[in-house]
Amino acid sequence: MRKTIIAGNWKMNKLISEAKVLVQELKELVSGITEIEIVVCPVYTSLYVVSQEIKGSNIKLGAQDCFWEESGAYTGEVSPVMLKDVGVEFVVLGHSERRQYFCETDEWVNKKTKKAIEIGLRPIVCVGEKLEEREAGKTFSIIEKQLEGGLGNLSPEEIKKVVIAYEPVWAIGTGKTATPEQAQEVHKFIRNWLSEKFGDEIAEGITIQYGGSVKPGNAKDLLSQKDIDGALVGGASLKAQDFAQIIKAGL
Ligand code: 13P
Repeated sequence: MRKTIIAGNWKMNKLISEAKVLVQELKELVSGITEIEIVVCPVYTSLYVVSQEIKGSNIKLGAQDCFWEESGAYTGEVSPVMLKDVGVEFVVLGHSERRQYFCETDEWVNKKTKKAIEIGLRPIVCVGEKLEEREAGKTFSIIEKQLEGGLGNLSPEEIKKVVIAYEPVWAIGTGKTATPEQAQEVHKFIRNWLSEKFGDEIAEGITIQYGGSVKPGNAKDLLSQKDIDGALVGGASLKAQDFAQIIKAGL
């Protein structure tokens, strides 16, 4: 059966000293939880210190992006090999903020995903529609395009390593959450796409997270949906108490 994965995307927040405190608090609050995979994704500058803090704990390390080359003249980029070197196991790819502000395309997401897997990282690939796309009835076609472009050419062995995060853009940082039913509908659509492409067995094994204003108060309802297998949490993951409550809602 697929594992519930709850990841905190800290986005561009927290200095090194703050990251250290946050993960120390979280470690205490979630110690002993083994049923859920717990991941924190700090900014690059805090990866090392957080990796040291979580040694021997049940918290895993994630990054928020990576490039598709291993090294070379790519000023400003960080490669999956370098992430692995610092102890990273997961990497968020194709987040809507990267698509929106940094012109990230499905083609780039695909190249990054394939390289990350080759290096031994587990990509958390984000898909999601904008408000105007939802209102125009285009939700499923947008999600399908992102899935095809980002993941369509993966091999069965590659797709098994992927976590998919459904993050409706209109729910990110807005306080507006998709209802559990709205989210479940899209998660089911994603699982059907996976089934058609890779077969039922693989599709059933893939973790699909929901992201977008997940809070302690709504986490249980979302996580109890059949095809919602975890959460990718932004704002609420910056507070250890809130993030721990969300994790416990998945038990
Ligand atoms: P919020 O939880 O702040 O809405 O952010 C969601 C998100 O983008 C996680 O990647």
